Amino acid sequence: MWRLAAMLLLSSVCRGSAQLLFDSPRLVEKNACNHSVLLPCSVTNMELNNIRAMFVRWKYKGKDIYTFDGFQDKVTISSDFQSASIFVPDILSGNSSLRLSDEDAVLGNYTCEVTEANREGEIIVELRYHVVSWFNPKENILIVIFPILAILLSWGQFGIVTLKYKANCPSEKTFGLIISGIILTLFVIIGAALFIPGEYSIKNASGLGLIVVPTLMLVLLQYCVFMTAFGMTSFAIAILILQLGGYILAAVGLSLCVMVCAPTQGPLLISGLAIIALAELLGLVYMKFKASNQKPPQPPRKAVEEPLNAFKESKGMMNDE
Ligand SMILES: *[C@@H]1O[C@H](CO)[C@@H](O)[C@H](O)[C@H]1NC(C)=O
Ligand SMILES: *[C@@H]1O[C@H](CO)[C@@H](O)[C@H](O)[C@H]1NC(C)=O
Repeated sequence: MWRLAAMLLLSSVCRGSAQLLFDSPRLVEKNACNHSVLLPCSVTNMELNNIRAMFVRWKYKGKDIYTFDGFQDKVTISSDFQSASIFVPDILSGNSSLRLSDEDAVLGNYTCEVTEANREGEIIVELRYHVVSWFNPKENILIVIFPILAILLSWGQFGIVTLKYKANCPSEKTFGLIISGIILTLFVIIGAALFIPGEYSIKNASGLGLIVVPTLMLVLLQYCVFMTAFGMTSFAIAILILQLGGYILAAVGLSLCVMVCAPTQGPLLISGLAIIALAELLGLVYMKFKASNQKPPQPPRKAVEEPLNAFKESKGMMNDE
């Protein structure tokens, strides 16, 4: 009984009220990736289902930017907001959200005013800017670290070639390797300097390109180093194929990331770069292994081993006690 009375009272209050109610957010954000912006404005208690009873007005700083007059079936758009539009068929269902191009969508407070016959209501929607980083901080670090690591390892390989395989390495070849190494290092340093964490920008994207694209030289350098040192072996070929695979992954990841403002293929790019560095590391270890296998153990080694054996013996004695 009480409940019924309360419900009757409530519904009469609702009917009597001349207020339209809104349920859309009052704060929306745009970022560097938005080509267009949607300012939400949605009424929950539409009743008449008659477009001729509708009037919608969007305002910015007190000036009309868009009006829809259902009675006259007329749309008026301010010259400062040429791109403003509402999907008119949606108005009857309560949705009067305004779409603006990114250029027109200045930040600030917009007012959406909706009238249905004698009922009306308004909502203020604030448009703010939200900075969205192109890659997340971890990805930024890994993208720079792996190529730098790979280059350092490459210089390490070069060191082994010049120290251990001097005979196979004529000076013009050494010179060529040094020049290529320096060019590659410069590319990656410049790229890393341009690739500053932050929003997507042409500068950022070219930095990423400068970091990733020249790493192909690492494959060539590693090939030259292997050829100079001991020629091709099946293990060396496997390392080069692995590295080339890493490069292809990284290049595909790069092209997918550069095309979009908020990349989702960061992990692909990073795993490619990681494989490139891994192949460089394997190459270095392999060269070291080959180099130490080629020459018989040198006399000075003994001198190191003897005190070591003596130490082991004394340790053994200590354990025996
Ligand atoms: C900007 O774009 C994002 C998705 O890219 C979207 O979620 C967001 O609603 C857009 N901002 C506005 C104000 O329309
Ligand atoms: C928009 O309105 C809110 C609340 O009234 C206010 O805090 C904010 O500063 C306004 N924003 C601008 C850009 O005027």
